[in-house]
Amino acid sequence: MRRITVAIDGYSSSGKSTMARELARRVGYVYVDSGAMYRAVTLYALEHGLIHNNTIDREGLIKLLDNIRINFAPAGEDGTQHTLLNGRDVEREIRDMQVSSMVSPIAEIKEVREHLVRLQQELGKEKGIIMDGRDIGTTVFPDAEMKVFVDASADVRAHRRQKEMEVRGEKVKYEDILENIKNRDHIDSTRAISPLRKAQDAHVLNNDNLDHTQQMEWLINLFNVITHE
Ligand code: DC
Repeated sequence: MRRITVAIDGYSSSGKSTMARELARRVGYVYVDSGAMYRAVTLYALEHGLIHNNTIDREGLIKLLDNIRINFAPAGEDGTQHTLLNGRDVEREIRDMQVSSMVSPIAEIKEVREHLVRLQQELGKEKGIIMDGRDIGTTVFPDAEMKVFVDASADVRAHRRQKEMEVRGEKVKYEDILENIKNRDHIDSTRAISPLRKAQDAHVLNNDNLDHTQQMEWLINLFNVITHE
């Protein structure tokens, strides 16, 4: 069985991270959540006073990019991988609303993208990796042997996001979550550099009406077909 690179792209809260993480666990590959890297840069900018009233000090952030170290701690008992920002576990903070509402404009900055794409390519150079994000199949690993584009309606995704937040004890209004999702969809798919779009050779999975087991079956089946080719 050959070792391959798997790129999973799609809209926010489409369930791609859950699928990607589980596929990695089942086939013994490394999983990397590229969105967590953009979130970690956003948290860094917030903590270093580089965002005022929703305005980003772009030049200030670009100058500090080399000071931002992002790593992943191995999955803990709960199965989730923890993102480390300069050695500090920030897995929880990078998921809060403050970060979520600033991450798309941060991800539009050319220098931020170049910096993170380089790190992502470095992480994937041995293959045997599953990375999820927005531009993995188009920009980070255009030669990935397996590319998946996950699609789901904004309404279904907002409900999913709300449930995830409730589990973590956060109460946020459904309308606010839906607005955040639509806003991010818009920025992510219309930005000038590496916008979110389906790679020509990606397999599309619309999971509006699929449960987790059905999605995993679809994904594993595709993985098996490609690795045995
Ligand atoms: O997958 P996520 O919702 O955690 O991603 C957070 C943001 O990061 C998303 O709104 C857009 C950006 N992102 C990106 O531009 N490119 C990626 N490869 C991953 C995420």
